[in-house]
Amino acid sequence: MPALVLLGAQWGDEGKGKATDLLGGSVDYVVRYQGGNNAGHTVVVGDQKYALHLLPSGILSPECTPVIGNGVVIDPSVLLSELSGLNERGVDTSKLLISGNAHIITTYNVTVDKVTERFLGKRKIGTTGRGIGPTYADKINRTGIRVQDLYDESILTQKVEAALEIKNQLLTKLYNRRAIEAGQVVEELLTHGENIKQYVADTTLILNNALDEDKVVLFEGGQGTLLDVDHGTYPFVTSSNPTAGGACTGTGVGPTKISRVIGILKAYTTRVGAGPFPTELFDEDGEALRRIGGERGVTTGRDRRCGWFDAPIARYATRVNGLTDFFLTKLDVLTGWEQIPVCVAYEIDGKRVEELPYSQTDFHHAKPVYENFPGWSEDISKAKTFDELPKNAKAYVKALEEMSGAPISAIGVGPGRTETIEINSFI
Ligand code: GDP
Ligand code: IMO
Ligand code: MG
Repeated sequence: MPALVLLGAQWGDEGKGKATDLLGGSVDYVVRYQGGNNAGHTVVVGDQKYALHLLPSGILSPECTPVIGNGVVIDPSVLLSELSGLNERGVDTSKLLISGNAHIITTYNVTVDKVTERFLGKRKIGTTGRGIGPTYADKINRTGIRVQDLYDESILTQKVEAALEIKNQLLTKLYNRRAIEAGQVVEELLTHGENIKQYVADTTLILNNALDEDKVVLFEGGQGTLLDVDHGTYPFVTSSNPTAGGACTGTGVGPTKISRVIGILKAYTTRVGAGPFPTELFDEDGEALRRIGGERGVTTGRDRRCGWFDAPIARYATRVNGLTDFFLTKLDVLTGWEQIPVCVAYEIDGKRVEELPYSQTDFHHAKPVYENFPGWSEDISKAKTFDELPKNAKAYVKALEEMSGAPISAIGVGPGRTETIEINSFI
């Protein structure tokens, strides 16, 4: 059985953690392929709620091997505290595998992320302040520190010194901060290295061997399609590729091995941080979506911006990811609205536009063209089959499916693992 990719179809927080956890029991490996602890994936198992940032959500399924691929950026102190937090709750984390090629988020890059945002003022991106952008910048600039560097003190020292030579100029001369001392950074990283050594492995080899043996591998994306550095709403994006191609570069598994690409799609839209958002609501409906949907960031605690479903975005996600399926989440949150508007196209400078415009300027000018769908008032949280949904909820889902360009194979009707309507099986 080849590999599956599960990724966010909108601006993140679509419910990837829940969907991954649901599949976790039927797959052999769950692999994070990009991003870092900017992610916040919530998993609810029975009465237990877990907020995972760096660890793949498969870590909660005992049979599953969780993997952090080479495309991820790792803050070792966050990793260690997440592991110990799970251990204290009785979760066995000993099977975790970490790529030696993954890059390390150093303390100086967390500092650079925060001071850069402060410096940008009104023009800020609204990052999570976790050092993601500067760490990927170092990677591309070939001045990054990789996991494997933590096991060669001399190389590590050279790399940290070289990186700090530039960063310290920036910190002291531009941002008016104190310089960071290389020796202390190296010492800390060496200690972290020892503490994570047991997990470090050639994950590319392991995953390819597993696929050759017909094992099931699930790639779990962080963030979402519109936060992709290439395909998202640049510059209001993250610094990695959450889109499907990122699963290949971020793990070393070729595209021919991937058979399914599942887009996690919220039944409405949310966004955290700055940037354009055509269907954003500034009224009571927006407030109600936030309240009923519990739309508050898992990582930063910021209120999420909320708006109606945007079909051009879903179609775009289908296109750039080659989606084979959607997992529609949070349909239950829409219960109780008399009418549910759906953005079916945009009006840009007086013209109707059906697809997401490639021009940033046009997207900033995009006004949603809405079609109203009749709502439902029945509680749907106990529904187990599509047929059990009220007529209007079924019509809403069918309309979204038609507009979005891929079959909706599962529907979330609550945060719990079992609060899901499975229509087509994923594995
Ligand atoms: P992720 O980053 O994509 O994993 O999503 P988050 O965990 O940041 O945000 C999704 C939130 O919605 C979490 O609080 C989930 O527990 C919750 N959730 C996921 N699916 C559903 C659903 O179908 N219905 C409801 N009501 N909540 C859901
Ligand atoms: P999950 O995996 C929602 C957003 C930030 C900011 C932008 C850049 O839980 O869906 P960064 O710190 O990555 O440089 O910030 O991206 N962002 C997310 N928004 N969900 C996430 O992750 C996000 N990770 C980053 O708010 O706008
Ligand atoms: Mg999240």
